[in-house]
Amino acid sequence: HTARFVIDPEFAVGDVDPRLYGTFVEHMGRCVYTGIHDPGHPTADPAGFRGDVADLVRELGTGLVRYPGGNFVSGYHWEDGVGPAADRPRRLDLAWRSIETNQVGTNEFLTWARQLGLEPMMAVNLGTRGIDAARALVEYCNHPEGTAWSDLRIKHGVRRPHDVKLWCLGNEMDGPWQTGHKSATEYGRLAAEAGKAMRQVDPAIELVACGSSNAGMATFGTWEGEVLEQTYDEVDYLSLHAYYEEFDGDRASFLASGAHMDQYISDVVATAHHVRAVRRAKKHIKLSFDEWNVWYAARFPGERNLATAETPRLIEDTYSVTDAVVVGSLLITLLRHADRVAVACLAQLVNVIAPIRTEPGGASWRQTTFHPFAQAARHAHGRVLRTESSGPRIETARHGEVSALDSVVTYDEDSGALTVLAVNRDQSRPLHLAAALRGGAAGYRLVEHLVLSDDDHDAVNTEAEPDRVVPRRARGTSVTAEGTLEAQLPPVSWNVIRLA
Ligand code: AHR
Repeated sequence: HTARFVIDPEFAVGDVDPRLYGTFVEHMGRCVYTGIHDPGHPTADPAGFRGDVADLVRELGTGLVRYPGGNFVSGYHWEDGVGPAADRPRRLDLAWRSIETNQVGTNEFLTWARQLGLEPMMAVNLGTRGIDAARALVEYCNHPEGTAWSDLRIKHGVRRPHDVKLWCLGNEMDGPWQTGHKSATEYGRLAAEAGKAMRQVDPAIELVACGSSNAGMATFGTWEGEVLEQTYDEVDYLSLHAYYEEFDGDRASFLASGAHMDQYISDVVATAHHVRAVRRAKKHIKLSFDEWNVWYAARFPGERNLATAETPRLIEDTYSVTDAVVVGSLLITLLRHADRVAVACLAQLVNVIAPIRTEPGGASWRQTTFHPFAQAARHAHGRVLRTESSGPRIETARHGEVSALDSVVTYDEDSGALTVLAVNRDQSRPLHLAAALRGGAAGYRLVEHLVLSDDDHDAVNTEAEPDRVVPRRARGTSVTAEGTLEAQLPPVSWNVIRLA
């Protein structure tokens, strides 16, 4: 039961953009309020942001955070969230039927992000609003001074422009659930004109057009084609969103979710190439996978029809070992497409389908899914290497035949470090990995092999037992005299093998 591949630093796919390790803060449930922001918390800073959560965000290693939504943004008036906090209106948030107090808004979020060294990715409302509100927000955030919007920012206490580079033109505009849902033609025209006006304010910004909400949408494919035809000259990226869950106990298919993501990315790349060819364009559109995760949507029916409340507990999924292995496998998939996927956001950051959980005024802890993300963000840098593995295959009902091994290798030219990320999708058998170290990898030695697995594939971390599931040192891994990396990957496991 052996999977083999060759590691050679010459076989490069592309470079890992640090923006691949992005996350997402939406005004939804308890992501902002009692998540990142909790003025009554013992660790809160003067602005009310939790110090314990800030520490975990640093440890997670995310470099980019998307804000403020999500479905929320499609009804948001950004002006409600700036200026004296006491004057800010309480609004009904239509997306999640919650009360939005607006106590955290653009300046608070961007200041928090800057303090943590995070690049912000802002979304504008193209649901209920349009060109004017979008270009005003860019002016408020990025224009130095001397105009009404930039001077208002200064009056609100922020002298230096926020200089936000990356902007989403709306969110999931193909979804009938979206406030202000549009057809591809309606959205494409609006996105092109809003984007043009935003760039007229600040020519240095980069723009993301909405692709489909997921690959299962009836309009998938035609939406991408039409939107790109309308927006090709204005935008830099097209978005993809995908959430995975286990259906009817079919764990084999769930563990193979990466195969679905892989095909989805390839299909969107093909559509972008088609539009490029038809337009005789030089530019390549890159992909922004700005929402991805495991989300047990089936466990939370009717989340969009709640009684109105402030900070309701929405989709606070508790993740298992299996979920962490799937998240790891999705990360591997994103990395393997590093030539085209330049931005990716694990959705979301705190409490709402998140790697970090908190209690209001109380504890915070790492979910199982925290670990693969943090390890990849820490170690998988530089060049992604092309590897073709041979080995055992697994038959799945949803995604056909997949390999038991899912893996990617990165090579950091600066430090010389090689990192192997590997998942064993087999539920009962360990997998033997044999990777031949060739070319510039010859002579490399093992630094460490950390593995996340458990005899109980459903084990979770909780407030009472926050470190039940953590990566541990694996035994028996070595580099042979012939220069082959040999390792045993337990069933349903996530592995990080570092060589130098
Ligand atoms: O992340 C939760 C929700 O999922 C987002 O608001 C929306 O964009 C997607 O449907």
